[in-house]
Amino acid sequence: MWKGRFAKDTSSLVEQFGESISYDWRLFPHDVAGSIAHARAQLHAGLLTAEEFAAIENGLLEILKDIEEGNFEFKTSLEDIHMNIEAELTKRIGAAGAKLHTARSRNDQVATDTRLYCRAEIDGLLTAVTLLQESLLGRAEKYAATVLPGYTHLQRGQPVTAGHHLLAYVEMLERDKSRLADCRKRLNVSPLGSGALAGSTINLDRGAIAEELGFDGVTRNSMDAIADRDYIAELLFCISLCGVHLSRLSEDLILWCSAEFGFAVLSDEHTTGSSLMPQKKNPDVCEITRGKTGRLTGNLVNLLVAVKGLPITYNRDLQEDKPPLFDSVDTLRLVLAVNTEMIGAMEMREEACRAAASDPMLLATDLADYLVKKGVPFRHAHELVGKAVAESIRTATPLDELDLTKIDDAYGPDAAEVFSLARALESRTNPGAPSVANVKAEVARWKAALS
Ligand code: ARG
Repeated sequence: MWKGRFAKDTSSLVEQFGESISYDWRLFPHDVAGSIAHARAQLHAGLLTAEEFAAIENGLLEILKDIEEGNFEFKTSLEDIHMNIEAELTKRIGAAGAKLHTARSRNDQVATDTRLYCRAEIDGLLTAVTLLQESLLGRAEKYAATVLPGYTHLQRGQPVTAGHHLLAYVEMLERDKSRLADCRKRLNVSPLGSGALAGSTINLDRGAIAEELGFDGVTRNSMDAIADRDYIAELLFCISLCGVHLSRLSEDLILWCSAEFGFAVLSDEHTTGSSLMPQKKNPDVCEITRGKTGRLTGNLVNLLVAVKGLPITYNRDLQEDKPPLFDSVDTLRLVLAVNTEMIGAMEMREEACRAAASDPMLLATDLADYLVKKGVPFRHAHELVGKAVAESIRTATPLDELDLTKIDDAYGPDAAEVFSLARALESRTNPGAPSVANVKAEVARWKAALS
């Protein structure tokens, strides 16, 4: 491709070191689409005859088909996907193929391909996240009224419902989708026409190329367009944070499935046994999800470090952007699919959840609220309930069996009513609170929103 200037062939070690075809082959559909749009602009600029354009377009479509069907041999000597396709095209159609690279560089070409790849993958991820949300919603609906303790510091705090707990993850995933959609919007501009770094003396209709490729517009600075990998960093961040959410969900499920909690059971299909301990049923999917989150975060850091020291515009280091990108996209796609299936089949052990939530200590805050409603300032109410809690611990008497009226005059005989779990949940009716009615309304809202 650059034989004019060189007297010696590239060393085979350098060839092996510098190739990217082993991974960037997967950009092929985008590379073909970009080349066809570029060739069409050349046709309209009078640089190609109608016959030449037809030969290029048909040649590229045939190459596309051959790659899809596994009938294409990628050559390491041709370095990357761009040169593999172009060289094959020229081999197949002759002189017209050699005209394709006019007013284009692999630098704007790879930037275009990668943006198109990210855009397509974001669309796929958005669908995959929605499917996981639907899976969570199904469980939230089934267990809308299943009470269980809510935790802070992994210490029992206040009663919530399983439905409310699961809907928290639906919220997180919705933010992940909104971030992905935002990233998609920002990346959807065409860098084609930026050339190696300084545009070209041959002016093709950049707007027409952008439109053909479904971009919303064109980049405004050729140097930035070539140097920019922000969209990859953004996508890797969106993916990492979604992974972090799923890792936290995994941790909840791992706890829930332990004998100590016993709140949930995963299907045999989504758990594994031990080769040694016959009784084991391990939540490996959750653990691997949690583990893969390290890898997703590593990929983000990998890219940021690769880019941080680079002068603009293109530097070959940028070729290293694709392995972490592809890995994160593939990993999250799989993580989403397996979690969707696993959560859809998860069962809550409602009795165990209720038993844990029936600890009257969980209603200590409600007792303080009861005093507040009687006119006691909250700080004082907190102290009075604290005393009752201390008495309960000292005398090993459950909080709801103490004679509270003996602790302070502020307690009336109706204080005992505070210890109804159903009432405690029913009174949490403010928007965002876990009353069963609220949870059911949220499930209905989400169902409508996702359909
Ligand atoms: N394979 C290269 C990459 O992924 C394509 C761009 C090559 N450009 C260059 N000037 N060598 O970054």
